[in-house]
Amino acid sequence: MMDDLDRIMLVMDEAFAPEYGEAWNRRQVGDALVMPGTRYGLITAEGRPNVRRDDTVAGFYLSRRILDEEELLLFAIAPAFRRRGLGHALLQRFIADARSDGMQRLFLEMRAGNPAGHLYLAHGFVPVGRRPNYYRTSDGSRLDAISHALDL
Ligand SMILES: CC(C)(COP(=O)(O)OP(=O)(O)OC[C@H]1O[C@@H](n2cnc3c(N)ncnc32)[C@H](O)[C@@H]1OP(=O)(O)O)[C@@H](O)C(=O)NCCC(=O)NCCS
Repeated sequence: MMDDLDRIMLVMDEAFAPEYGEAWNRRQVGDALVMPGTRYGLITAEGRPNVRRDDTVAGFYLSRRILDEEELLLFAIAPAFRRRGLGHALLQRFIADARSDGMQRLFLEMRAGNPAGHLYLAHGFVPVGRRPNYYRTSDGSRLDAISHALDL
């Protein structure tokens, strides 16, 4: 039977454009999942958080908590399920869970120009820093990383 690591990897392998090198491999995700503070959430194609055996998983997030701060490390909706609000729903759930568990501040880092930026800003994240030339694309060009934070 498929477990949540399989489900995450199915989305991961489709969702991240290879030229940016943002996707993690199975081992990296597996290692993260056993570390204290790591959290993840799934969303089904119908927008439900709890996945039943025959559900199609449309997206996931993976994050890490340290004390009262949480960093969103990975966030993705599979291409077949985009632009129908699932990203909004998953991000909203991530933020609501963090808030209800007492987190004070959320962080994430994104490559400059990623359309996901619209989504993060819509949920209250604020750009707080830029690391020049942080990402190297497969054609050798460089992209800045933009750090975002949200005070809860
Ligand atoms: C970013 C991502 C999660 C959005 O998922 P989604 O389910 O399509 O999101 P939604 O349908 O809820 O749309 C969320 C908002 O994001 C913005 N957005 C998403 N895709 C966009 C695109 N291709 N162009 C412009 N804006 C876009 C829009 O503002 C949209 O809101 P709107 O539809 O109300 O205008 C998805 O495109 C993805 O997985 N991308 C690849 C992985 C990635 O880059 N993750 C973020 C890493 S930091």
